[in-house]
Amino acid sequence: MKRKVLSTILSVAMVAAMLVGCGGGSETATAPAESEAPAAEEAAPAETEAEGGEEAAAPSGEGGLIGVEMPTQDLQRWNQDGANMKEQLEAAGYQVDLQYASNDIQTQVSQIENMISNGCQLLVIASIDGDSLGTVLAQAKEAGIPVIAYDRLIMNSDAVSYYATFDNYMVGTVQGEYIRDQLDLENADGPFNIELITGDPGDNNARFFFGGAMDVLQPYIDSGKLVVKSGQTSFEEVATANWATEAAQSRFDAIIASNYSDGTNLDAVLASNDSTALGVANSLAANYTGEYPIITGQDCDIASVKNMIAGKQSMSVFKDTRTLASQVVKMVDAIMKGGEAPVNDTESYDNGTGIIPSYLCEPVFADVNNYKELLIDSGYYTEADLQ
Ligand code: BGC
Repeated sequence: MKRKVLSTILSVAMVAAMLVGCGGGSETATAPAESEAPAAEEAAPAETEAEGGEEAAAPSGEGGLIGVEMPTQDLQRWNQDGANMKEQLEAAGYQVDLQYASNDIQTQVSQIENMISNGCQLLVIASIDGDSLGTVLAQAKEAGIPVIAYDRLIMNSDAVSYYATFDNYMVGTVQGEYIRDQLDLENADGPFNIELITGDPGDNNARFFFGGAMDVLQPYIDSGKLVVKSGQTSFEEVATANWATEAAQSRFDAIIASNYSDGTNLDAVLASNDSTALGVANSLAANYTGEYPIITGQDCDIASVKNMIAGKQSMSVFKDTRTLASQVVKMVDAIMKGGEAPVNDTESYDNGTGIIPSYLCEPVFADVNNYKELLIDSGYYTEADLQ
């Protein structure tokens, strides 16, 4: 969908991996990306192959067939994730079967079954519902096919070999701390009105995002400095099925009508990502006349970056999908060559069958002051994308 963006991916991927530190924090752009992850380096990272030997100059597909399963094309990020994975895996000499499941669990299961029967040798899966893949992944395990959970942890399946994601808890704390600091909760008297919205209950990430943010905000709610006038504070009450913008909008339509239509100000909205933040902004535009609240987000989706520029969303958390893709390609390459995938976390993510060795990339704070450097200078978007 964004050809300009995609065409720049290969040329900027390694620089971007340096700009947005993946796990190891920011390093200078003079060192190659693979220096961050020694295990991957030993396993001959994709980039080296693609640039190096004569036989590897043109992607051969001889490395094997990799299944890449994405949840939906409705949200911008998954299109980028899928395209980045395909492009980088092909450059590393693999064939790719890339599928999107239209946010439909049964479609995702069928697509994975097809990948298994079509001879995929490794599966990279971003699940729709983390709890729904146990049966099909048992088939993968039976066939000896390793599985990497991509961005979202797959729960209650012992077929999951590795997990690669951004530090989801940190995404939440960055959002919570932003609200704390903007409202100066340590010093200001308040009280301030806040409302909360997070993502799909079947997405394990949503609990980490919400948990991270609430670890920062809950003490202020408990002390009465932050007031949630809707009374909706539990994860279940503030969850949004499929992270859908429309669902977020209609929930906020009701919240505003009941609590903020009489001139009462809404001071802040903790929104776990951009698709829900967009629903909040749409609802405010239609229903709210008070002072515009602080609104958080995540992903730096184009619509939300435009809203940040227009003052309708305060911040977003940038998770460079090129960085995650290049990390996962290193993991795939290491596994396909018979080695262990590089990981940097062996304690945070228990999927119900035990800890899944993980690689956590570092999310980055974005707002109207740094978006140009982060998003345009790094080649993630063009100026025109944001107009
Ligand atoms: C991802 C977020 C995304 C959300 C909705 C989460 O699992 O980590 O980046 O905004 O899903 O697609």
